[in-house]
Amino acid sequence: MSNIHPGSAPQSIAQAAQHLASGQLVGMPTETVYGLAADACNDAAVASVFTTKGRPANHPLIVHVLDASQVDHFAVQAPEFAVKLMTAFWPGPLTLILPRKPGVAASAAGGQTSIGLRCPAHPVAHALLLACQALGVRGLAAPSANRFGRVSPTTAAHVAHELGDELFILDGGPCQVGIESSIVDCTRGAPVLLRPGVLTREQLAQACGQAVLDQDEATLSGTLGAAPRASGTLESHYAPHAKVRIMSTADLQTAAALTEGATKSIAIYARCAMLKAPKDLNICQMPLDAAACAQELFAVLRQLDALGVDLIWVEELPAGPEWDGVRDRLMRASA
Ligand code: TXA
Ligand code: MG
Repeated sequence: MSNIHPGSAPQSIAQAAQHLASGQLVGMPTETVYGLAADACNDAAVASVFTTKGRPANHPLIVHVLDASQVDHFAVQAPEFAVKLMTAFWPGPLTLILPRKPGVAASAAGGQTSIGLRCPAHPVAHALLLACQALGVRGLAAPSANRFGRVSPTTAAHVAHELGDELFILDGGPCQVGIESSIVDCTRGAPVLLRPGVLTREQLAQACGQAVLDQDEATLSGTLGAAPRASGTLESHYAPHAKVRIMSTADLQTAAALTEGATKSIAIYARCAMLKAPKDLNICQMPLDAAACAQELFAVLRQLDALGVDLIWVEELPAGPEWDGVRDRLMRASA
């Protein structure tokens, strides 16, 4: 773990910015999850993000910018609703897909004619983007710093565990949000939510003054353009090694009571009391609050996985829209 550097130290930020400006990769904290960052305009650096992650090169990366004034460098014709979303939620856990400026960051965009832009709210990410700007680096392409298809990292130690000790990692503490940004596609004439996060559709709609469609609604509308490819929308993403199964409260309690003799191979993540379960069953208490659950979700999945269990049983989530982001990640983890 020798390559983890305190994000609060100015010399760590300066060193990280130098690495990025010279085409190397850096593990970077954001408020959502840790990212594996590269200069978005350096094709060789971007290529090594894809190989380090084991991610197919046609899956576009999110480009992180210092603030909204940097959007024009990467994108053209941001629609009015996109500007409203930026104004309301940047810096913060929101990525906007915009029409890409031709000739800019094509590799980072996976060759698409669009580009995903996000202004992160984490102070270490902000300091890093500022230091990069001074070195002529205008944006950082940064997917989550995990191997393709695995659980996203929410601490510096997770990143080191995922990607090895060679990588220069800035430590910004545990991520406050805990699940990846909400992604809104702004290239199809109306806002379409590609990936739910902690910002609900209602919050997004209110900020941009019009309905935010989900992907099914967008497809059914028939008037919008074609959907972009996005690896976060593949099924079976965010998967731990153990099999995740989502169960109703009643089923979970019944099943837990029957685990005698098999407690080493099962772990549980639930809000309800598990009164009839064997004493040595691994039970992790799920927070009642959606934001608190999002914050710890990936760390809990990692922790339960590390016990070496075969099965992680998760209690079905409450119905409210504030749970949509967590629900999405759990459904993918269980797919
Ligand atoms: O919270 C986050 O968004 C984190 C932190 C590090 O900022 N980043 C993140 O990046 O989750 P990544 O690469 O793991 O997920 C990016 C998602 C993918 O589903 C990708 O396909 C989609 O954004 N995406 C990026 N650019 C796109 C584009 N031009 N068109 C469509 N989808 C795009
Ligand atoms: Mg990811």
